[in-house]
Amino acid sequence: MASLTVRQIDEALKQQLRLRAARHGRSVEDEVRTILREAASDTETPPSPGSGPMPAAKPVAAKRVLLIVGGGIAAYKSLDLIRRMKERGLAVRCILTKAAEEFITPLSAGAITGERVFTDLFDPAHEFDVGHIRLAREADLIVVAPATADLMAKMANGLAGDLATAVLLATTAQILLAPAMNPRMWMNKATQRNLAQLIADGVATIGPNEGEMAESGERGLGRMAEPLEIAAGVEKILKLHGAPRPLKGKRILITAGPTHEPIDPVRYIANRSSGKQGYAIAIAAAAAGADVILVSGPVNVPKPQGVTVIDVESARDMLAAVERALPADVAIFAAAVADWRVANAGAQKIKKQAGAATPDLALTENPDILSTVAHRATGRPGLVIGFAAETENVLANAKAKLAKKGCDWILANDVSPATGIMGGDRNTIQLVTASGVEAWPPQSKEDAAATLIARIAAALNGEQN
Ligand SMILES: Cc1cc2nc3c(=O)[nH]c(=O)nc-3n(C[C@H](O)[C@H](O)[C@H](O)COP(=O)(O)O)c2cc1C
Repeated sequence: MASLTVRQIDEALKQQLRLRAARHGRSVEDEVRTILREAASDTETPPSPGSGPMPAAKPVAAKRVLLIVGGGIAAYKSLDLIRRMKERGLAVRCILTKAAEEFITPLSAGAITGERVFTDLFDPAHEFDVGHIRLAREADLIVVAPATADLMAKMANGLAGDLATAVLLATTAQILLAPAMNPRMWMNKATQRNLAQLIADGVATIGPNEGEMAESGERGLGRMAEPLEIAAGVEKILKLHGAPRPLKGKRILITAGPTHEPIDPVRYIANRSSGKQGYAIAIAAAAAGADVILVSGPVNVPKPQGVTVIDVESARDMLAAVERALPADVAIFAAAVADWRVANAGAQKIKKQAGAATPDLALTENPDILSTVAHRATGRPGLVIGFAAETENVLANAKAKLAKKGCDWILANDVSPATGIMGGDRNTIQLVTASGVEAWPPQSKEDAAATLIARIAAALNGEQN
């Protein structure tokens, strides 16, 4: 059978197929072929030797990653890491330490891996086949994320008092640690000594990143690397040549965060943008193989690995940095750029004087970065994408903005305070293009970023406009 036609596929399924194909860097036709091949090899009884045509070559077995989750706040991110590794075609098994079970459940990890989750060294179900040795032997790579200070100390000293540490001692596979802990725990001499020992033993590490900690008011070096950064590290170690790189060779320019418009040398006007959505897009674009330049206003988000970050403060600085960073294949303007700046900003700190009138701040319009780039006669990126953060008439305003700014796509979101989107971790986006409106489901900012990057890859590959 040389070809097969499938009729009556509804739009929603087509859309899912396009996004899946883009994620894997394949054409839709190739994606469907892969799905059919996988489904057929699951159920088919293999023909007996000599009973017919040669069977198709057996698909290459997936590489196996054993993920050990330690007991830290970042354990919740390991659920996303499982998804990211599975998206890359990896078979993932999971061990939770006793402390990790205080943060996430074996049920949630099992639901995402699709496999039983292991927690006990002395497991009656594996009494006779020495479970920890088998788990150690059956992994191509062991990832410890989050790697707690405690796990690092035990590993550095060869302790094996529970399932996680026994497996880590018994394995000959490469180990990748993603440490996560309070900055003071990280900088402690004992932790640094253990880290040096582990590196000398051949253990690979990723992160920690700098940024805000779970404890309120704490920041510093100690945040676990983001799941997409760890997944990229896994790809590198396992040399996954077939890993999806749908944006390889593309240069993507992204803006993120608020701008600060000075009132005088010590005061400024700002907005509530956290930069989380733009940073998530930068991470997703880099993971898809793009060369990413992130022009960022002042934010408290850790700098992503593998991304060139250019820090700016005001709207005018941002425009200048964007113009210097061009040309690009795609430009995504996620920054919340101030519409106005203070026309009469003080060269010195404006003093409060008893009895004097309050100062009048005159505002003047800032340059419109999205419109400026979208209307460039030369060097305009092939795909210019803006955000419309609105508090009312979201769709109508987004459609008007698409026309007025001259961009190709607008991602519209409702940022009225009740939605919690501004500064929060989730987003509900409607994609407005010349051909219509796509409503994406409410999702995390990381998932919204992955959806956007998959959608961009599909557009660049000519599968969607
Ligand atoms: C709320 C809470 C958060 C914690 N977060 C971390 C963390 O991020 N990193 C860390 O190294 N230890 C953290 N700990 C301490 C570990 O849970 C503790 O050292 C534990 O024994 C680690 O066990 P494990 O290494 O077997 O997972 C935290 C403890 C609590 C109670």
